[in-house]
Amino acid sequence: MQNPFVYGEVVPAAAFVNRVAELDRLVGDLAAGQKVFLISPRRYGKSSLIRHALAAMTRRGALTVEVTVSSFSSYVAFLEGYARALVAAETKSDRVRSWLRDTIRSARAEVRYAPDTSPLGAITVSFPAVRSDRDVSRLAQEVFALPARLAETRHQQVVVALDEFQAIGGFNGGSVEHAMRAAVQHQRNVGYVFAGSEPSLMERMLGPKRPFYKAGPVIRLEKIPADEFAAAIDARFSRSGIKPEPGLGAAIVDLAGNLPYDVQRLAHETWDEVRTGGRRRATLDDLHQALRRLLTEQQTMFEAIWQRLTLAQRAVLRAVVLEDGRELLSADARTRHRLGGPSTVQAALAALVRDDLITRAGARYAVVDSLLREWVARQTF
Ligand SMILES: Nc1ncnc2c1ncn2[C@@H]1O[C@H](COP(=O)(O)OP(=O)(O)O)[C@@H](O)[C@H]1O
Ligand SMILES: [Mg+2]
Repeated sequence: MQNPFVYGEVVPAAAFVNRVAELDRLVGDLAAGQKVFLISPRRYGKSSLIRHALAAMTRRGALTVEVTVSSFSSYVAFLEGYARALVAAETKSDRVRSWLRDTIRSARAEVRYAPDTSPLGAITVSFPAVRSDRDVSRLAQEVFALPARLAETRHQQVVVALDEFQAIGGFNGGSVEHAMRAAVQHQRNVGYVFAGSEPSLMERMLGPKRPFYKAGPVIRLEKIPADEFAAAIDARFSRSGIKPEPGLGAAIVDLAGNLPYDVQRLAHETWDEVRTGGRRRATLDDLHQALRRLLTEQQTMFEAIWQRLTLAQRAVLRAVVLEDGRELLSADARTRHRLGGPSTVQAALAALVRDDLITRAGARYAVVDSLLREWVARQTF
């Protein structure tokens, strides 16, 4: 029997929980050729949701393309990767070459086949002659126009997913946003989903003075309702032949701060714990055993994170954990945890948010990684 819980990669259908309304909405919008923005912190399930939406669009006869913007080291590398992803549907090399020659005039595309080696597929596309900023922006215009040309050539609807889209800000300042917006707004036959993991960056990108202002619907992905997630975890334990102690699913969701990634990680490791012991019942003890093992495995990484923090940041991080993220600026909390003045606390909180170690929801702060939270609670003083 395989472990039914999956983390660290896009979740397969069997492990995918809920998201029914979000999936419906995303698929509907993409089918209508909308330009959709999908926003949430990391590890909430954007990429998983996108993968399911694209699969649904493929079943409806659309051609789908998925690119992770943050994985490229330069603007040109991104343009090459994007072009490659768009031509990957075509298997005849001559056709790819002639199609790219016809559609991209500003630069010569070099198309190579590297059978079975690259994880990105057999085709590589490069534009070796592109050098100056001017070359790059001319090329970008043409590459960004490709999805619509593809839809025309293949008489198919095209859906493009640009994941970790906030990384676009790192390429060439603001000009990429302009070029992308200008290209996509006329592409009626192409649905786009721009997914971003840094909510504040993404929200700013959608602001009034920016190219993507009112470009399309915005889906802000929330956490999965805790009770539904807990029930789904229990059900998957049972289905795999392991009976969960009552309340196990709820305890996992709670300990994981209901972060989908952390929920799946704890469930996965608990399941392994039981399985390795050759048992058929999963208990809260198994959960705690799995947690202890995970904390040991991550020890070095957490120590490194801790070392990088200033003393003020360490004290504030501990206070976030011990006070459950509430009232950190109160005189009471500041005295109890020896935090110093309000401005010191505020600066430390801001730095921890910037480092993605904690997040803020309303007046409350929470540690992003639930294992780090447990480690701080147990191993720091
Ligand atoms: N709908 C879901 N049901 C169950 N687990 C999920 C779901 N969405 C995400 N997860 C869990 O969270 C992890 C991170 O999901 P991912 O889609 O990569 O998030 P993001 O793209 O927002 O960073 C997955 O590997 C999986 O363990
Ligand atoms: Mg993702």
